[in-house]
Amino acid sequence: MTNTPYDPAAEGAQMRFDGRMSYTDYLHLDPILTAQHPLSTAHDEMLFIVQHQTSELWMRLAIHELTAARALLLDDTLRPAFKMLARIARIFEQLNSAWDVLRTMTPSDYTAFRETLGQSSGFQSWQYRRIEFILGNRNAAMLRPHAHRPDLAALLEEDLRQPSLYDAALRQLPRAGIPLPDAVLNRDPATPHVATPEVEEAWARVYRAPETHWELYELAEKLVDLEDYFRRWRFNHLTTVERVIGLKRGTGGTGGTSYLKRMLDTVLFPELWTLRTTL
Ligand code: HEM
Repeated sequence: MTNTPYDPAAEGAQMRFDGRMSYTDYLHLDPILTAQHPLSTAHDEMLFIVQHQTSELWMRLAIHELTAARALLLDDTLRPAFKMLARIARIFEQLNSAWDVLRTMTPSDYTAFRETLGQSSGFQSWQYRRIEFILGNRNAAMLRPHAHRPDLAALLEEDLRQPSLYDAALRQLPRAGIPLPDAVLNRDPATPHVATPEVEEAWARVYRAPETHWELYELAEKLVDLEDYFRRWRFNHLTTVERVIGLKRGTGGTGGTSYLKRMLDTVLFPELWTLRTTL
């Protein structure tokens, strides 16, 4: 035993960074860790801010993965896309676990600073809207809260011109010899996909013979997995909101839980769910 304090430098740990890139530099931690500006003295406002900011960071990664996965699917490169789709589901799992931290905030805690939010709300999260648009839940009305930021509105409008992730997945069916109507394959991308019996039958063919269509089968299950985790996020959000504000209206102006309940009915990949009944 020695009383000499342990010095990591003795085994080579870098200790001097004058003029060299450090961890703080590489990760740009200065702007990130000085971007929390509570507008009240309420203790829990910091939790509220950090929870939203970290969610936005995870959404940033989700968009990075989603756009790459879609490009790979459009390029018929399925296996690397599967890896990304699996990662996106995990990102949502991460976002789902995060609600446990926010749930420690009681209605009394939240009321202490809710006024300071003004009209701001996650409803105006352009990254969330991009995720929805990329996945296929497209509604041009959701562009309006971003009109005051032409740069963001342009990004969202561009998403409405691109095929959705589901469109990219559907295009794989004819490539594997399972035909789909032209109206499905060449629909106006600005509108949401409308479920059809033909698409359901096409996916059902895959599920009736997984060993013949293994890649499509895997693709379908990856999409269902992703939607499953996304649904859990919506549900956890709704429950947290009801727990914190009850039936009050949202700061963003909607009916609050009534709006979020309505959003629970959103189905991203409808035929992948309905085929299960007929199988
Ligand atoms: C106490 C915490 C929270 C409350 C009370 C709350 C409340 C609400 C309410 C009432 C809405 C409906 C729109 C409105 O009128 O404002 C909403 C939407 C939304 N919130 Fe939250 N929220 C909370 C936490 C979060 C967190 C941590 C996130 C993560 C980013 C988030 C993201 C969203 C998103 C993306 C929407 C839009 C959902 C959609 O359009 O389907 N919220 N929130």
